[in-house]
Amino acid sequence: MAGIAVPRQLPPPAAHFTGRADVLATLDEIATGSGDRPPMAVLQGPGGIGKSTAAVHWLNRRATRFPDGQLYVDLRAESGFEPVPSTVVLGRLLRGLGVPGDQVPADLAEATTMYRSVTARKRLAILADDAFSAAQVVGLVPASPDSMVLATSRWRLGRLATYGAGFIELPVLPVTDGADLLAGTVGDGRPGREPAAVAELAGLCGGLPLALSIAGARLVSRPRWSIARMVRELADDRTRLAALDIGAVFDLSYRCLPPATAHAYRRLGEYPGPEISPGLAAAVLRLPGNEATAVLDHLVDAGLLAERGADRYGFHELIRLHARGCAEREEPEAERQAVRRRILGYLARDLH
Ligand SMILES: Nc1ncnc2c1ncn2[C@@H]1O[C@H](COP(=O)(O)OP(=O)(O)OP(=O)(O)O)[C@@H](O)[C@H]1O
Ligand SMILES: [Mg+2]
Repeated sequence: MAGIAVPRQLPPPAAHFTGRADVLATLDEIATGSGDRPPMAVLQGPGGIGKSTAAVHWLNRRATRFPDGQLYVDLRAESGFEPVPSTVVLGRLLRGLGVPGDQVPADLAEATTMYRSVTARKRLAILADDAFSAAQVVGLVPASPDSMVLATSRWRLGRLATYGAGFIELPVLPVTDGADLLAGTVGDGRPGREPAAVAELAGLCGGLPLALSIAGARLVSRPRWSIARMVRELADDRTRLAALDIGAVFDLSYRCLPPATAHAYRRLGEYPGPEISPGLAAAVLRLPGNEATAVLDHLVDAGLLAERGADRYGFHELIRLHARGCAEREEPEAERQAVRRRILGYLARDLH
């Protein structure tokens, strides 16, 4: 194994990284660690919020902390539904650390032991991208306390708290950062000439970095379009998701939901307001209050709904449009009308 080049496996950084000062500072804090085990940071949030991008950016900035290398594993299976088996992941890591392929054990316990021996006394960073479960991440913790694990996940991996993980929930980008991301991506004179349209466009993207970078890329490929024209194209909330070609990102989370939760997601998407209370959810889903809250919490765990405070929840606007689109495709019209009547009934009762 001697003479193996230091692994530098990170994917390329974002071309126009914007904002995220708080996230980067929190990663620095978590990296300080406790000394007896490798620090672990978990970046969580919905698809396209910028988890992988922030992790890669921070790791590039802090490359010198990890002189023995930076390893990268994508834990999302091709299908998006099942985790990549741990033996496959450990095999990739061991080969990345210089173990010849024919010496990588096929047995999980043996591969784990070898991984711990190989990583002892090293200063490594491991980016476990798109984890599906806490167990997937736990299996990759190296033996040396001078190393660090960063995991990204759309799912809440609360069980990692027992391994001392620090959790970072990524918020949407504020309008000014969103406008900077757009301007950086577009890269010509248009954003400077149309600052109001840029702010409007950032708003229509709901501060979701993926939506912002797609909108920016579309403007790059249409050099004659004004930004106002792109705003007009995205203004219609019935076609916004398709125009941004972003539905597949949320589909991946949606299709992992158990049927009852998926059903609730479609129904709750009918409510156009910014906040959903457990009372409203109970009325819409026709469930007792505690069961409605459990469904809301499950959607939060899946990264499809955000907690906005005690007993207050809300969809990201683009995710709500996705939920409504799922209802359009999958729910009978009569059922959708019944849901809307229950929403109106609840709101009328709430007013009195
Ligand atoms: N802070 C940022 N500055 C500039 N661009 C960003 C930023 N964050 C994200 N992006 C861009 O947004 C897109 C989506 O980001 P990213 O892939 O990191 O999301 P994610 O949260 O990891 O999503 P997923 O759950 O699907 O893996 C990328 O194309 C990236 O370039
Ligand atoms: Mg990612």
